[in-house]
Amino acid sequence: MADAEIRLTVNGNAQALSVASSELLVEVLRDTLGLTGTHVGCDTAQCGACTVLMNGQAVKACNVLALQADGAQVRTIEGLKQGGVWHPMQTAFSRHHGLQCGYCTPGMVMRAVAMATEGVPAEPHAVREALEGNLCRCTGYEGIVAAICDGMACMRRQHSDEA
Ligand code: FES
Ligand code: FES
Repeated sequence: MADAEIRLTVNGNAQALSVASSELLVEVLRDTLGLTGTHVGCDTAQCGACTVLMNGQAVKACNVLALQADGAQVRTIEGLKQGGVWHPMQTAFSRHHGLQCGYCTPGMVMRAVAMATEGVPAEPHAVREALEGNLCRCTGYEGIVAAICDGMACMRRQHSDEA
């Protein structure tokens, strides 16, 4: 299929890329840009392992055409750590041991970062509901939910300290 030129910014880096019309955003991130922290679990928009932020919103990158990302700001798990310091959500996942095999973790963390800006309350029931599109086969979710509640509270404290 015919190639098209797209421009997007990934983790703060401007990219100009030639993509096929059928190419997925997750393929561009992993195969073209080497950002393999974004995982593929199902390829059918069900598991959430491929979740990234596009213009600040959580999207499943296996369900977005690269062409649809033209002009977008994309953030992946590799872009969360700033100046050698973990993002508060990454720290919270570590503190609460919110993972076992880690396959779902990048998608969980990116979805959780988006939750904080969506105004999801930092309490377990609301987090479980907001997490319905992200599946974990290992943990039973207890540590993940605790991490997200803690991480959102930390993000909001940090934001109010900066304001
Ligand atoms: S790989 Fe995208 S939702 Fe499963
Ligand atoms: S930690 Fe293994 S799938 Fe979630």
